[in-house]
Amino acid sequence: MLKQTKYQKVVLVGDGSVGSSYALLMMQQPVMDELVIVDIAKDHSEGDAIDLEDTQLWGKPKWVHAGTYADAKDADLVVITAGVPRKPGESRLDLVNKNLNILKTIVGPVVDSGFNGIFLVAANPVDILTAATQKLSGFPTNRVFGTGTSLDTVRLRVALGKQLNLAPQTLNVNVIGEHGDTQFAAYSHAMVGDQKLLDVAQAKGVSLADLQATEAAARKKGGQIIGLKGATFYGVATCLARITRAILGNEDAVLPVGAYLDGEYGVKDLYLGTPALINAQGVARVLPLDLSAEERGKMLDSAKAMKKVLDDAMA
Ligand code: LAC
Repeated sequence: MLKQTKYQKVVLVGDGSVGSSYALLMMQQPVMDELVIVDIAKDHSEGDAIDLEDTQLWGKPKWVHAGTYADAKDADLVVITAGVPRKPGESRLDLVNKNLNILKTIVGPVVDSGFNGIFLVAANPVDILTAATQKLSGFPTNRVFGTGTSLDTVRLRVALGKQLNLAPQTLNVNVIGEHGDTQFAAYSHAMVGDQKLLDVAQAKGVSLADLQATEAAARKKGGQIIGLKGATFYGVATCLARITRAILGNEDAVLPVGAYLDGEYGVKDLYLGTPALINAQGVARVLPLDLSAEERGKMLDSAKAMKKVLDDAMA
């Protein structure tokens, strides 16, 4: 149900492949009245803005224009995609210092504008940069979050949909933890309708080992796409647009995101992928999954790895 009542403004920081794909998707959404595009390549963002103007005849009318951080003053949402992307063979964590330095030039000026909305972060390594955005801004943790394992969850559900011959949307299974190498699929309590996914798979002759192979392939898919075409953008841009709609539409939607954990899963003061309730407050509530003992161990391992990177980066 759409509950939009007020004029809604989004500031997009970073007009690369992810940012411009997101901008195009947002032009088609029933939420958002104004989109401001901020990029160091000013001509490019101006060109993109006037190109995007031509996409709106059949949708909700929107004002799209290039701008600056000062435009965040009265924005509802600032979406950060700015950063150096991964090169073939690089891990997301290899980007941390470069992209943290870029992030530092963004968050301060956005806060200085008087911005009082929600930060949504997609730049990699997303869990680290989301935590850094919260620390640099001093914003409440519900108003700073990231794409987390949203894309990983999409990838897993799409692959399982093919493997089990079921619509991906009907598969209630989540990838949680780091958006990176220590992520994992929480299979133990995953459901299809009122049946356990593990039972549904077994009845179709798909073993746990087969499911684990699918999980591993989904985990490596980002690297695979980068190897083939140099970058990944449609998937994460779609996740960003979906999350944006949940915020601006005040949807109370349960989505996998990168949320601040304050004791959930035994993890404190860290951003990691988990399902959460998303509405106009941002992360209204983290909805922790019921994990098996083995999965709890994996979540703690993921947290430990992230904490070390974050502590080193912020030192
Ligand atoms: C990917 C990038 C967005 O996984 O991290 O495609």
